Amino acid sequence: MSSLRQWLRDASAPLHQRVDTAFSRFDLSERHDYELFLRAHAAALFALETALEQGPIAQLLNDWPERRRSAALRQDLQALQIALPAALSVQPGSDEGWYWGVVYVLEGSRLGGRVLSQRVRAGGSGSPLHYLAHGEGIPLWPRFLAQFEQRATRVDRGQLLLGTQLAFGRFLRAAEYELQATASPSP
Ligand code: HEM
Repeated sequence: MSSLRQWLRDASAPLHQRVDTAFSRFDLSERHDYELFLRAHAAALFALETALEQGPIAQLLNDWPERRRSAALRQDLQALQIALPAALSVQPGSDEGWYWGVVYVLEGSRLGGRVLSQRVRAGGSGSPLHYLAHGEGIPLWPRFLAQFEQRATRVDRGQLLLGTQLAFGRFLRAAEYELQATASPSP
């Protein structure tokens, strides 16, 4: 594993643990929880993809257009008649490292997609899976890592970590918002 990716993975492991724990609380075999899960992802993803595209992401990753998932997610929300959540605003960064940090989190968030899709299917609700199944069968993660290892090695690590922290933070906040909004009030 490249030393930069190893470093970033180690540095962001506690944040990954927190988003993993938060998102694991949605029971994806239940249609209602799946809807909340999609809303949380949308609140974070729309703003993050918009911020990336206000900067140089298309120059950093040669296959960026293939990676955008906002349209797939919007399709699922529309099919389920879920109102679009308010996007969590993101101020685009001014350094290349920040963009690599954000896109590392977005691309990593696909990794459990297949397992999560299976959980939705197991629920038998026939819910749409454009978002979770996006890019299935295409080696997007290895291709991302190859570009990351080749092009990101000289970026400012502080900025790289800032982008990563910001992106994980937006997902975490969005998950907590949806989980809190539905939690039953204490007696
Ligand atoms: C149900 C919640 C989640 C679980 C159970 C989970 C689990 C995992 C697992 C098992 C891996 C390693 C996969 C592999 O190496 O093939 C991984 C990697 C990763 N996940 Fe998650 N994840 C979850 C949610 C998320 C979310 C919401 C994000 C982003 C917002 C995220 C970002 C990442 C990243 C960036 C990596 C790559 C780490 C590396 O460099 O290897 N994960 N996750």
